Amino acid sequence: MKRQTNIIGQSPLIIQLKQLALQVADTDIPVLIVGETGSGKEVLARFIHANSRRADKSFIPVNCGAIPSGILESELFGHEKGAFTGAVQSRKGYFESADKGTIFLDEIGEMPLETQVKFLRVLESGEFQRVGSSESVYSDARIIAATNRNMYQAVAEKNFREDLFYRLRSVELQIPPLRERNRDILLLADNFVREFQQKHKIVFEGFSPDAAEIMMRYPWPGNVRELRNLIESLLVLEKGKYITPEILEKHLVQRNRYKSLVHDPTKSEKHELQVIYSSILQLRQEVGEIRQMLQHLLHPLYQSQPRPQLLLPGSSEVYSPENSGPGSNTPETQPEKEMEILHSLDDLERKAIEQALESCGGSRRKAARSLGITERTLYRKIKSYGIQSKDPSAPPLDA
Ligand SMILES: Nc1ncnc2c1ncn2[C@@H]1O[C@H](COP(=O)(O)OP(=O)(O)OP(=O)(O)O)[C@@H](O)[C@H]1O
Ligand SMILES: [Mg+2]
Repeated sequence: MKRQTNIIGQSPLIIQLKQLALQVADTDIPVLIVGETGSGKEVLARFIHANSRRADKSFIPVNCGAIPSGILESELFGHEKGAFTGAVQSRKGYFESADKGTIFLDEIGEMPLETQVKFLRVLESGEFQRVGSSESVYSDARIIAATNRNMYQAVAEKNFREDLFYRLRSVELQIPPLRERNRDILLLADNFVREFQQKHKIVFEGFSPDAAEIMMRYPWPGNVRELRNLIESLLVLEKGKYITPEILEKHLVQRNRYKSLVHDPTKSEKHELQVIYSSILQLRQEVGEIRQMLQHLLHPLYQSQPRPQLLLPGSSEVYSPENSGPGSNTPETQPEKEMEILHSLDDLERKAIEQALESCGGSRRKAARSLGITERTLYRKIKSYGIQSKDPSAPPLDA
């Protein structure tokens, strides 16, 4: 399958983003791509690679959040025969395979601290050792990393090395969420309609003006991926039919956000509870992020750090001191209240996790997906809240 390298979009933010990407494509500067889930981080990374002089070499995507922490290091740096039980042959790692090409490190915020030390050295000198070897290997891989996590929070919580963070974001490209680039919604929809008409051999009759209006107003929590999936479902399940608001709303993932949750007779009570809990979980994450941003603003250590060379306007504005004028309700002015809120949010978060695990039959993978967090984050939270697993086949937490 040919992978997408074309970034569809005419909104000013996307045009500017493409320009910046083209500007850095032909350099070897590491790039950090920041954006919500499904906003197109991998598409942007592939676009940079395709427009660089490395285009005819490999582009190797590695999802740091999906590979168990114990084997990530040998996957990235390779290993020698006998380096650990099961290492029957020596093997090249992704950095070696990406030599002269590009390595795309997705969910970089999930990289374990031990691996970060080794990675920082690769960033600085291109040099590393395979696991179980003392011989240095060199890789000329261009590094592009991506995250949908708040990295300031990860740094403040000491889950991510500060030196590595600042080295990585020498160029930071922020992809705006789809809801901040409305004018691209119908353009993208149109492209996906064409793609899926061809793929499924269906003729699509189009959207009513009211349905198009709803698409423009919907917040797209899953961003472009959600839009793409919606178009495919509409074409296939509605058999190319003219789409009215009634049909469209049936297929929107978060239609509950705009309709009454409690009185929706089509949902079981349990499911409603789960939706409420996962919204609370999201809210808790957002509160935590806002708190970290405020701390970042007020903390003298951060203020002395170099600013990134390139930043798109938009979400970066939140870090600028002008935004915290008098009257802004900082955590410092309300510490007790804040602790109280965080405690209740902790309780709610714990309940949300327990509820999700229960309704997913104890499967951590499914529970993580339903809560919109990575499996590793879920593991961490289960561990820190001391939640007991009811699934006898679930692996131990420190595996
Ligand atoms: N600007 C765009 N033009 C065309 N297709 C896009 C665009 N942005 C995203 N897509 C499509 O949306 C889907 C999600 O994009 P992608 O995988 O790059 O998102 P992501 O930010 O890496 O998501 P995640 O955080 O979940 O890893 C893909 O199918 C991709 O092809
Ligand atoms: Mg991705």
